[in-house]
Amino acid sequence: MDLRLIENEEKYYDFIRILRTHQENTMGFLEQVEITSEQQFRYMEKYQKNYLICVNESVIPVGWIGIVDNDIRLCVDPQFKGNGIGTFMLSSFIKLYPNGEAKVLIGNKASNKLFQSNGFKIYKHDEKFIYYKFIISE
Ligand SMILES: CC(C)(COP(=O)(O)OP(=O)(O)OC[C@H]1O[C@@H](n2cnc3c(N)ncnc32)[C@H](O)[C@@H]1OP(=O)(O)O)[C@@H](O)C(=O)NCCC(=O)NCCS
Repeated sequence: MDLRLIENEEKYYDFIRILRTHQENTMGFLEQVEITSEQQFRYMEKYQKNYLICVNESVIPVGWIGIVDNDIRLCVDPQFKGNGIGTFMLSSFIKLYPNGEAKVLIGNKASNKLFQSNGFKIYKHDEKFIYYKFIISE
C-alpha cells in the first residue's frame, strides 16, 4: 500500500469521528462516548492542525493520527488493520513531534505493540495506562 499523510480538512472531520467511535476501535480509548458531528466539528475547529490523515494510493482515507496536550492518538480503519498503516503513521508523525508522548490502555495489545516497535519506551504506568516517551536511538 502506498501511503501518505495529508493535512486534516473539514471534509475529514466525520471520518475521524467515525473511526474514533467504531466499535472495533473505541475499546482502545478510555472514553467510550458517542460523539455527534456537531461536537466533532467544534473539537476539530480547535485541533484541526494537530491531526493528519493517512490516505492510500487512491487518496482513500485509511487512518488518522493526532496530538493533543502532547498526547499522541491514532486510529486505523478496521478493514485495513494489520497492514502497517499504524506503523507508517506513527513513524512519520514522530519526526514532526519528537517530544510527543502516549498513554495506552494496558489491555490495548495492538497499540502497545505499535508504540514499543517504534522507539517508544515505557516511563510509568498506573492501574489503567502505560505511559510512553519517544527515545531517539543512537
Ligand atoms: C493500534 C492501531 C492504530 C494499529 O494499527 P495497524 O495499522 O493495525 O498497525 P500495524 O499494522 O502497523 O501493526 C503494528 C504492530 O502491532 C501489531 N499488532 C497489530 N494488531 C495487533 C493485535 N490485534 N494484537 C497484537 N498485536 C497487533 C503488529 O503485529 C505490529 O507489530 P510489529 O511492529 O512487531 O510488526 C489499530 O489497531 C487501531 O486503530 N486500534 C484502535 C484505536 C486505538 O486503540 N488507538 C490507540 C489509542 S492510543
